[in-house]
Amino acid sequence: MGERLRGKVAFITGAGMGMGREAAVLFAEQGARVVVADIDAAAATQTVVLVEQAGGQALATVGDVALEADVRRMIEEGVRRFGRLDVLHNNAGVLWKDRDRSVLETDEKWWDRVMAINLKSVFWVTKYGIPELRKAGGGSVILMGSVSALAGFTRAQDAYTAAKGALISLAKSLAIQFARDRIRCNVIHPGIVDTPLQAPYLTDAIRKEFETGIPLGRIAQPREIAYVALFLASDESSFMTGTELVVDGGFTAG
Ligand SMILES: NC(=O)c1ccc[n+]([C@@H]2O[C@H](COP(=O)([O-])OP(=O)(O)OC[C@H]3O[C@@H](n4cnc5c(N)ncnc54)[C@H](O)[C@@H]3O)[C@@H](O)[C@H]2O)c1
Repeated sequence: MGERLRGKVAFITGAGMGMGREAAVLFAEQGARVVVADIDAAAATQTVVLVEQAGGQALATVGDVALEADVRRMIEEGVRRFGRLDVLHNNAGVLWKDRDRSVLETDEKWWDRVMAINLKSVFWVTKYGIPELRKAGGGSVILMGSVSALAGFTRAQDAYTAAKGALISLAKSLAIQFARDRIRCNVIHPGIVDTPLQAPYLTDAIRKEFETGIPLGRIAQPREIAYVALFLASDESSFMTGTELVVDGGFTAG
């Protein structure tokens, strides 16, 4: 077991799969206790099993991050179990390329749902989570952006892009408001990562196209993003707030 998050409690949304699950296991390997918040009960429970197999402690809490009442309850469950919160890792997000397309083609229903899961969720997690970070004497808020927030794509997901872009502004506002409480807030912008979110879209042809366009010549593995979240969650990033880390294999540098 490492020590980089020793004594800390991390609340991770969307920790049932993909990068959230990877972060839950990695954070636990580094000494954190983890609140696994996800809409999928079976997936959340499976993450808890993986954390325990890694020698850590985790609690599965089930709800929809888009709903204020669910988030409030999940935070309360986490605090009741572990007594404090030090890290809010706002990882949950959805990419629905079939329903969220160009502005010309997207129904209001899908705009609303994508914005609610990818953006409004952060409102609720920080609304109920920041008071807990204050009680703990400070902490780290991590927002999961995307390279979609930094560049346009001809094959558009405009609701997703707008939600991820808005996280950049929200991070700056949270960073400035709560800096004197020793609460930091930063954004991670992953490029393409090999997770269940991408799986339906990663045909051989699309994978090849990404690999050609990414300077490092491949898509990322979830742990490569989880390590960045670990750095932001830990005191190693103690002088970083209100900023962004792009983790895209050089994609946006090209
Ligand atoms: N995978 C990529 O290529 C990529 C790239 C850039 C950014 N991201 C962002 O990274 C984050 C994690 O992505 P991933 O690829 O690991 O996703 P994933 O689909 O593999 O896992 C997401 C998790 O979130 C949960 N979830 C979905 N809707 C929820 C809701 N309403 N309430 C609670 N939980 C919910 C799912 O059940 C799942 O466990 C997302 O915010 C995503 O937008 C992903």
